Amino acid sequence: MRRPMVAGNWKMNGTRASVAELIEALRQQELPAKVEMVVFPSCVHVSQVVSGLEGLPFSAGAQDCAEQSGFGALTGETSATQLSDAGCEWVLVGHSERRSLLGESDEVVSRKFAAALSCGLKPILCLGESLEERQAGQTLEVVGRQLAHVIAEVGIAAFEQAVVAYEPVWAIGSGLTATPEQAQEVHAALRKQLAREDQRVADGVRLLYGGSVKADNAAELFGMADIDGGLIGGASLKANEFGAICRAA
Ligand code: G3P
Repeated sequence: MRRPMVAGNWKMNGTRASVAELIEALRQQELPAKVEMVVFPSCVHVSQVVSGLEGLPFSAGAQDCAEQSGFGALTGETSATQLSDAGCEWVLVGHSERRSLLGESDEVVSRKFAAALSCGLKPILCLGESLEERQAGQTLEVVGRQLAHVIAEVGIAAFEQAVVAYEPVWAIGSGLTATPEQAQEVHAALRKQLAREDQRVADGVRLLYGGSVKADNAAELFGMADIDGGLIGGASLKANEFGAICRAA
């Protein structure tokens, strides 16, 4: 039985004051014990969030990490070593905004996934196709390639410590949500691909859906056989809506 998971990706949002307000508002929420809940603040707010979440059933993660672990002359980068030291338990790897807007390749994503694991962080591997790729019928080929690259880099056993998030690029921030059937089709294909490597690992890996998940569509999405929760963007910045999505998992 996979424990449901809901993660909030705050993206490049927030000030120290608004982060403090959001954490306080989350503290007022009725939060389900059966759901694993994680929040991903901007790197600059990680320490504030880690200490602010004390006593709350949330863990914290980072939205990215360097390919390199440890320390060194790499201006502007933050290593998984430093993120773990700061209290992060999770890290997003390969978010489609970083793939599409910052040109992160499958190779870079795979190395970041490995770096996270080497420092004891649990990676959430983000995969997804563009609208053009979906319209061309290439969705399963694209996400399958993205997943295959990481499996080749780290091996299937590594996925016992990881989560995979399917986020169709065309559904992110657009208000256009994949239908539960569309999402389930991709999730089932991803789990089948993992199962070809190791059935036990595949059965245990949580597959999250991300892309315009809201309080009014979460339950139907999360009710699908291979959707184990969600990776939430905009709605995670609103405590009431994020709480409702967590309760729907
Ligand atoms: O990482 C989650 C994010 O990409 C989804 O964003 O705003 O469509 O929920 P949003």
